[in-house]
Amino acid sequence: MRGWFWKTYPTPTQTQSLDVRQISASLEKGGYEVELAQFDRFDLSKSYRDYYVLYGSSEDYLGSSKSFMEDILLWLELHGAILIPHYKYFRAHHNKVMMELLRLDFSAAEFKTIQSRVLPSARSGQEILAELPRPAVIKSASGAGSTGVYLARNQQEMISAIHKASRQVFGFPYLWIRLNNVIQFLKRKAPQVVNNSKYVVQNLIPGLAGDYKVLIFGQRYFVLYRLNRENDFRASGSGRFVDREDSELFQVLDFAQRCFREIDSPFVSMDIAYNGQQAHLIEFQCVSFGFKAMSLSDHHYQTILGKWQRINKRVIPEEIFCDAVMDYLSAKESAKTL
Ligand SMILES: Nc1ncnc2c1ncn2[C@@H]1O[C@H](COP(=O)(O)OP(=O)(O)O)[C@@H](O)[C@H]1O
Ligand SMILES: [Mg+2]
Repeated sequence: MRGWFWKTYPTPTQTQSLDVRQISASLEKGGYEVELAQFDRFDLSKSYRDYYVLYGSSEDYLGSSKSFMEDILLWLELHGAILIPHYKYFRAHHNKVMMELLRLDFSAAEFKTIQSRVLPSARSGQEILAELPRPAVIKSASGAGSTGVYLARNQQEMISAIHKASRQVFGFPYLWIRLNNVIQFLKRKAPQVVNNSKYVVQNLIPGLAGDYKVLIFGQRYFVLYRLNRENDFRASGSGRFVDREDSELFQVLDFAQRCFREIDSPFVSMDIAYNGQQAHLIEFQCVSFGFKAMSLSDHHYQTILGKWQRINKRVIPEEIFCDAVMDYLSAKESAKTL
Protein backbone atom coordinates (compact mmCIF):
# COMPACT_ATOMS: atom_id res chain seq x y z
CA MET A 1 0.00 0.00 0.00
CA ARG A 2 3.01 2.32 0.24
CA GLY A 3 3.13 2.51 -3.55
CA TRP A 4 5.76 -0.20 -3.90
CA PHE A 5 5.59 -2.86 -6.55
CA TRP A 6 7.51 -5.94 -5.41
CA LYS A 7 10.92 -5.44 -3.84
CA THR A 8 14.45 -5.58 -5.14
CA TYR A 9 17.89 -5.24 -3.53
CA PRO A 10 20.22 -2.75 -5.25
CA THR A 11 22.76 -3.74 -2.53
CA PRO A 12 22.48 -6.61 -0.01
CA THR A 13 21.21 -4.25 2.69
CA GLN A 14 19.11 -1.81 0.65
CA THR A 15 15.64 -2.42 -0.72
CA GLN A 16 13.62 -0.58 -3.32
CA SER A 17 10.48 -1.05 -5.36
CA LEU A 18 10.73 -2.34 -8.90
CA ASP A 19 10.56 0.57 -11.30
CA VAL A 20 6.98 0.40 -12.61
CA ARG A 21 7.64 2.94 -15.36
CA GLN A 22 10.40 0.76 -16.72
CA ILE A 23 8.11 -2.28 -16.51
CA SER A 24 5.29 -0.43 -18.33
CA ALA A 25 7.70 0.74 -21.03
CA SER A 26 8.97 -2.81 -21.62
CA LEU A 27 5.47 -4.24 -21.74
CA GLU A 28 4.39 -1.52 -24.16
CA LYS A 29 7.40 -2.30 -26.32
CA GLY A 30 6.22 -5.92 -26.27
CA GLY A 31 2.88 -4.81 -27.76
CA TYR A 32 0.75 -4.50 -24.59
CA GLU A 33 -1.30 -1.47 -23.67
CA VAL A 34 -0.52 -0.67 -20.03
CA GLU A 35 -2.55 1.17 -17.38
CA LEU A 36 -1.06 1.74 -13.93
CA ALA A 37 -3.45 1.52 -11.00
CA GLN A 38 -3.06 1.50 -7.23
CA PHE A 39 -5.30 -0.88 -5.31
CA ASP A 40 -7.45 2.03 -4.12
CA ARG A 41 -7.67 3.66 -7.55
CA PHE A 42 -9.48 1.04 -9.60
CA ASP A 43 -12.52 2.40 -11.37
CA LEU A 44 -15.06 -0.09 -10.07
CA SER A 45 -17.71 1.02 -12.57
CA LYS A 46 -15.54 -0.14 -15.46
CA SER A 47 -15.36 -3.64 -16.92
CA TYR A 48 -11.98 -5.30 -16.55
CA ARG A 49 -13.05 -8.42 -18.44
CA ASP A 50 -10.06 -10.09 -20.14
CA TYR A 51 -7.64 -7.53 -18.71
CA TYR A 52 -4.40 -9.04 -17.46
CA VAL A 53 -3.74 -7.72 -13.97
CA LEU A 54 -0.12 -7.89 -12.93
CA TYR A 55 0.01 -7.12 -9.24
CA GLY A 56 2.10 -7.22 -6.11
CA SER A 57 1.32 -7.81 -2.48
CA SER A 58 2.69 -6.41 0.76
CA GLU A 59 3.35 -7.44 4.32
CA ASP A 60 0.15 -7.90 6.26
CA TYR A 61 0.78 -5.09 8.76
CA LEU A 62 -1.10 -5.74 12.01
CA GLY A 63 -2.91 -8.60 10.34
CA SER A 64 -5.39 -6.74 8.18
CA SER A 65 -3.75 -4.37 5.69
CA LYS A 66 -3.77 -7.01 2.98
CA SER A 67 -7.46 -7.68 3.18
CA PHE A 68 -8.27 -4.64 1.01
CA MET A 69 -6.05 -6.03 -1.75
CA GLU A 70 -7.72 -9.38 -1.29
CA ASP A 71 -11.15 -7.84 -1.87
CA ILE A 72 -10.10 -5.89 -4.96
CA LEU A 73 -8.26 -8.81 -6.56
CA LEU A 74 -11.11 -11.22 -5.95
CA TRP A 75 -13.58 -8.68 -7.34
CA LEU A 76 -11.43 -8.25 -10.46
CA GLU A 77 -11.22 -12.00 -10.95
CA LEU A 78 -14.97 -12.41 -10.42
CA HIS A 79 -15.47 -9.80 -13.15
CA GLY A 80 -13.38 -11.60 -15.71
CA ALA A 81 -9.92 -10.08 -15.21
CA ILE A 82 -6.99 -12.49 -15.47
CA LEU A 83 -4.73 -12.14 -12.47
CA ILE A 84 -1.03 -12.76 -12.94
CA PRO A 85 -0.36 -14.86 -11.03
CA HIS A 86 -3.70 -16.46 -10.08
CA TYR A 87 -5.57 -15.37 -6.99
CA LYS A 88 -4.74 -18.65 -5.22
CA TYR A 89 -1.06 -17.66 -5.24
CA PHE A 90 -1.93 -14.29 -3.73
CA ARG A 91 -3.76 -16.14 -0.96
CA ALA A 92 -0.60 -18.16 -0.35
CA HIS A 93 1.55 -15.04 0.04
CA HIS A 94 2.73 -14.98 3.67
CA ASN A 95 0.20 -17.70 4.30
CA LYS A 96 1.72 -21.13 4.84
CA VAL A 97 -1.68 -22.71 5.40
CA MET A 98 -2.80 -21.87 1.85
CA MET A 99 0.62 -22.77 0.48
CA GLU A 100 0.41 -26.22 2.05
CA LEU A 101 -3.10 -26.67 0.66
CA LEU A 102 -1.79 -25.82 -2.82
CA ARG A 103 1.05 -28.32 -2.36
CA LEU A 104 -1.60 -31.06 -2.19
CA ASP A 105 -2.47 -30.31 -5.83
CA PHE A 106 0.98 -31.13 -7.19
CA SER A 107 0.74 -34.34 -9.17
CA ALA A 108 4.25 -35.66 -8.45
CA ALA A 109 4.93 -37.30 -5.08
CA GLU A 110 8.46 -35.85 -4.98
CA PHE A 111 6.99 -32.44 -4.05
CA LYS A 112 5.11 -33.92 -1.10
CA THR A 113 7.93 -35.36 1.01
CA ILE A 114 6.82 -32.75 3.52
CA GLN A 115 3.26 -33.33 4.64
CA SER A 116 1.40 -30.84 6.75
CA ARG A 117 -1.60 -30.62 8.97
CA VAL A 118 -3.17 -27.19 8.68
CA LEU A 119 -4.77 -25.97 11.88
CA PRO A 120 -6.81 -22.94 12.93
CA SER A 121 -6.04 -22.62 16.65
CA ALA A 122 -3.97 -23.93 19.56
CA ARG A 123 -7.02 -25.78 20.79
CA SER A 124 -7.55 -27.73 17.58
CA GLY A 125 -3.86 -28.75 17.64
CA GLN A 126 -4.04 -29.92 21.22
CA GLU A 127 -7.08 -32.05 20.38
CA ILE A 128 -5.10 -34.04 17.81
CA LEU A 129 -1.71 -33.95 19.49
CA ALA A 130 -1.26 -37.73 19.32
CA GLU A 131 -1.75 -37.72 15.53
CA LEU A 132 0.95 -35.12 14.85
CA PRO A 133 4.40 -36.19 13.58
CA ARG A 134 7.40 -36.32 15.87
CA PRO A 135 9.74 -34.60 15.50
CA ALA A 136 7.62 -31.88 13.97
CA VAL A 137 8.22 -28.47 12.45
CA ILE A 138 5.53 -26.04 13.52
CA LYS A 139 5.09 -22.81 11.57
CA SER A 140 2.83 -19.85 12.11
CA ALA A 141 1.05 -19.16 8.82
CA SER A 142 2.38 -15.69 8.28
CA GLY A 143 6.06 -15.73 9.35
CA ALA A 144 9.09 -15.05 7.15
CA GLY A 145 12.85 -15.28 7.65
CA SER A 146 12.27 -18.27 9.99
CA THR A 147 10.28 -16.27 12.54
CA GLY A 148 7.44 -18.39 13.83
CA VAL A 149 9.16 -21.63 12.73
CA TYR A 150 9.75 -24.06 15.63
CA LEU A 151 11.12 -27.55 16.09
CA ALA A 152 9.26 -29.84 18.50
CA ARG A 153 10.76 -33.21 19.46
CA ASN A 154 8.42 -34.26 22.25
CA GLN A 155 4.97 -33.59 23.62
CA GLN A 156 6.04 -30.69 25.82
CA GLU A 157 7.88 -28.91 23.01
CA MET A 158 4.90 -29.56 20.76
CA ILE A 159 2.46 -27.88 23.15
CA SER A 160 4.77 -24.92 23.63
CA ALA A 161 5.43 -24.51 19.86
CA ILE A 162 1.72 -24.73 19.07
CA HIS A 163 1.10 -22.09 21.66
CA LYS A 164 3.69 -19.74 20.15
CA ALA A 165 2.77 -20.40 16.51
CA SER A 166 -0.92 -19.75 17.09
CA ARG A 167 -0.52 -16.56 19.12
CA GLN A 168 -2.32 -13.59 17.56
CA VAL A 169 -0.90 -10.66 19.50
CA PHE A 170 2.45 -9.77 21.02
CA GLY A 171 3.94 -7.10 23.26
CA PHE A 172 1.69 -4.57 24.93
CA PRO A 173 -1.63 -5.75 23.37
CA TYR A 174 -0.84 -9.26 24.64
CA LEU A 175 -0.21 -7.99 28.19
CA TRP A 176 -3.38 -5.94 27.98
CA ILE A 177 -5.46 -9.01 27.08
CA ARG A 178 -3.80 -11.03 29.87
CA LEU A 179 -4.67 -8.29 32.33
CA ASN A 180 -8.19 -8.03 30.96
CA ASN A 181 -8.57 -11.78 31.41
CA VAL A 182 -7.90 -11.41 35.13
CA ILE A 183 -10.84 -8.98 35.22
CA GLN A 184 -12.91 -11.41 33.12
CA PHE A 185 -12.06 -14.15 35.62
CA LEU A 186 -13.13 -12.01 38.55
CA LYS A 187 -16.39 -11.27 36.73
CA ARG A 188 -16.75 -15.03 36.10
CA LYS A 189 -16.72 -14.42 32.36
CA ALA A 190 -14.89 -16.44 29.69
CA PRO A 191 -11.33 -15.25 28.93
CA GLN A 192 -10.45 -13.68 25.60
CA VAL A 193 -8.50 -16.24 23.58
CA VAL A 194 -5.21 -15.14 21.98
CA ASN A 195 -4.23 -18.42 20.33
CA ASN A 196 -6.53 -18.47 17.33
CA SER A 197 -4.00 -17.86 14.56
CA LYS A 198 -3.63 -20.51 11.88
CA TYR A 199 -0.44 -22.54 11.56
CA VAL A 200 0.96 -25.74 10.06
CA VAL A 201 2.52 -28.83 11.60
CA GLN A 202 4.74 -30.94 9.38
CA ASN A 203 7.41 -33.63 9.41
CA LEU A 204 11.04 -32.59 9.89
CA ILE A 205 13.51 -33.42 7.13
CA PRO A 206 16.43 -34.38 9.36
CA GLY A 207 20.12 -33.72 8.88
CA LEU A 208 20.03 -30.63 6.67
CA ALA A 209 22.94 -28.18 6.77
CA GLY A 210 21.08 -25.56 4.77
CA ASP A 211 18.72 -25.04 1.87
CA TYR A 212 18.69 -23.48 -1.58
CA LYS A 213 16.78 -20.38 -2.49
CA VAL A 214 15.82 -20.75 -6.13
CA LEU A 215 14.16 -17.91 -8.03
CA ILE A 216 12.70 -18.75 -11.41
CA PHE A 217 11.69 -16.11 -13.95
CA GLY A 218 10.47 -17.91 -17.06
CA GLN A 219 13.59 -19.52 -18.50
CA ARG A 220 16.04 -18.06 -15.98
CA TYR A 221 17.04 -19.72 -12.72
CA PHE A 222 18.87 -17.91 -9.92
CA VAL A 223 20.10 -19.95 -7.01
CA LEU A 224 21.85 -19.37 -3.71
CA TYR A 225 22.75 -21.94 -1.09
CA ARG A 226 22.09 -20.82 2.46
CA LEU A 227 23.69 -22.43 5.48
CA ASN A 228 21.58 -22.89 8.59
CA ARG A 229 21.80 -20.35 11.36
CA GLU A 230 24.41 -21.36 14.00
CA ASN A 231 23.22 -24.41 16.00
CA ASP A 232 19.80 -24.27 14.36
CA PHE A 233 17.82 -26.32 11.84
CA ARG A 234 16.65 -23.19 10.01
CA ALA A 235 18.39 -21.56 7.03
CA SER A 236 15.90 -18.84 6.13
CA GLY A 237 17.13 -15.46 7.36
CA SER A 238 20.61 -16.78 8.27
CA GLY A 239 22.29 -14.50 5.72
CA ARG A 240 24.99 -17.21 5.36
CA PHE A 241 24.96 -17.44 1.57
CA VAL A 242 27.36 -19.72 -0.24
CA ASP A 243 27.99 -19.83 -3.96
CA ARG A 244 28.31 -23.45 -5.03
CA GLU A 245 28.20 -25.29 -8.30
CA ASP A 246 28.35 -29.05 -8.04
CA SER A 247 26.25 -32.05 -9.01
CA GLU A 248 23.87 -31.41 -6.09
CA LEU A 249 23.13 -27.94 -7.41
CA PHE A 250 22.13 -29.32 -10.80
CA GLN A 251 19.87 -31.90 -9.14
CA VAL A 252 18.22 -29.05 -7.26
CA LEU A 253 17.78 -27.08 -10.50
CA ASP A 254 16.24 -30.15 -12.21
CA PHE A 255 13.87 -30.57 -9.28
CA ALA A 256 12.98 -26.86 -9.35
CA GLN A 257 12.26 -27.05 -13.07
CA ARG A 258 9.96 -30.05 -12.65
CA CYS A 259 8.12 -28.26 -9.86
CA PHE A 260 7.84 -25.03 -11.88
CA ARG A 261 6.05 -26.98 -14.62
CA GLU A 262 3.33 -27.75 -12.09
CA ILE A 263 2.91 -24.09 -11.13
CA ASP A 264 0.94 -21.74 -13.35
CA SER A 265 2.89 -18.50 -12.87
CA PRO A 266 5.56 -16.56 -14.78
CA PHE A 267 7.81 -16.62 -11.70
CA VAL A 268 8.30 -18.43 -8.43
CA SER A 269 10.59 -18.46 -5.42
CA MET A 270 11.32 -21.86 -3.91
CA ASP A 271 13.17 -23.07 -0.84
CA ILE A 272 14.59 -26.47 -1.68
CA ALA A 273 16.62 -28.69 0.63
CA TYR A 274 18.77 -31.64 -0.38
CA ASN A 275 19.52 -34.30 2.19
CA GLY A 276 22.11 -36.32 0.30
CA GLN A 277 19.53 -38.55 -1.40
CA GLN A 278 16.77 -36.36 -2.70
CA ALA A 279 15.46 -32.83 -2.90
CA HIS A 280 12.61 -31.58 -0.70
CA LEU A 281 10.35 -28.63 -1.40
CA ILE A 282 10.26 -26.56 1.78
CA GLU A 283 8.17 -23.72 0.41
CA PHE A 284 7.18 -21.86 -2.74
CA GLN A 285 5.85 -18.34 -3.34
CA CYS A 286 4.66 -16.68 -6.55
CA VAL A 287 3.85 -13.15 -5.37
CA SER A 288 6.11 -10.38 -4.03
CA PHE A 289 8.93 -12.68 -2.96
CA GLY A 290 12.36 -11.12 -2.30
CA PHE A 291 14.83 -10.82 -5.15
CA LYS A 292 17.93 -11.28 -3.02
CA ALA A 293 19.09 -14.43 -4.79
CA MET A 294 18.93 -12.50 -8.05
CA SER A 295 20.56 -9.32 -6.74
CA LEU A 296 23.39 -11.20 -5.05
CA SER A 297 24.13 -13.41 -8.06
CA ASP A 298 26.47 -12.49 -10.86
CA HIS A 299 25.20 -15.45 -12.85
CA HIS A 300 22.13 -17.54 -13.49
CA TYR A 301 21.18 -20.75 -15.26
CA GLN A 302 19.06 -21.64 -18.23
CA THR A 303 18.49 -24.93 -20.01
CA ILE A 304 19.49 -24.96 -23.63
CA LEU A 305 18.61 -28.18 -25.47
CA GLY A 306 17.96 -29.86 -22.13
CA LYS A 307 21.34 -28.96 -20.59
CA TRP A 308 22.00 -26.37 -17.88
CA GLN A 309 24.07 -23.45 -19.10
CA ARG A 310 25.61 -20.93 -16.75
CA ILE A 311 25.11 -17.35 -17.87
CA ASN A 312 27.71 -15.06 -16.33
CA LYS A 313 26.19 -11.63 -16.11
CA ARG A 314 24.33 -9.42 -13.73
CA VAL A 315 20.76 -8.74 -14.74
CA ILE A 316 18.33 -5.85 -14.49
CA PRO A 317 15.45 -7.11 -12.31
CA GLU A 318 12.75 -5.20 -14.23
CA GLU A 319 13.93 -6.74 -17.53
CA ILE A 320 13.95 -10.28 -16.17
CA PHE A 321 10.54 -9.74 -14.62
CA CYS A 322 9.01 -8.44 -17.87
CA ASP A 323 10.60 -11.14 -20.02
CA ALA A 324 9.05 -13.76 -17.74
CA VAL A 325 5.62 -12.11 -17.93
CA MET A 326 5.70 -11.76 -21.71
CA ASP A 327 6.91 -15.36 -22.21
CA TYR A 328 4.11 -16.55 -19.96
CA LEU A 329 1.46 -14.50 -21.77
CA SER A 330 2.56 -15.53 -25.24
CA ALA A 331 2.51 -19.20 -24.15
CA LYS A 332 -1.03 -18.64 -22.81
CA GLU A 333 -2.16 -16.89 -25.97
CA SER A 334 -0.74 -19.51 -28.30
CA ALA A 335 -2.36 -22.26 -26.19
CA LYS A 336 -5.71 -20.42 -26.69
CA THR A 337 -5.37 -20.33 -30.46
CA LEU A 338 -4.53 -24.05 -30.74
N1 LIG B 1 10.02 -29.57 7.33
C1 LIG B 1 11.25 -29.07 7.49
N2 LIG B 1 12.31 -29.89 7.74
C2 LIG B 1 13.55 -29.36 7.92
N3 LIG B 1 13.84 -28.05 7.90
C3 LIG B 1 12.83 -27.20 7.66
C4 LIG B 1 11.49 -27.66 7.43
N4 LIG B 1 10.71 -26.59 7.21
C5 LIG B 1 11.50 -25.51 7.29
N5 LIG B 1 12.79 -25.85 7.56
C6 LIG B 1 13.91 -24.92 7.74
O1 LIG B 1 13.40 -23.73 8.33
C7 LIG B 1 13.60 -22.60 7.48
C8 LIG B 1 12.38 -21.67 7.53
O2 LIG B 1 11.21 -22.34 7.06
P1 LIG B 1 10.28 -21.75 5.93
O3 LIG B 1 9.09 -22.62 5.84
O4 LIG B 1 11.05 -21.54 4.70
O5 LIG B 1 9.80 -20.38 6.58
P2 LIG B 1 10.15 -18.84 6.24
O6 LIG B 1 8.91 -18.34 5.59
O7 LIG B 1 10.40 -18.23 7.54
O8 LIG B 1 11.30 -18.81 5.29
C9 LIG B 1 13.88 -23.16 6.10
O9 LIG B 1 14.75 -22.28 5.39
C10 LIG B 1 14.54 -24.50 6.42
O10 LIG B 1 15.94 -24.33 6.63
MG1 LIG C 1 11.50 -19.85 3.49
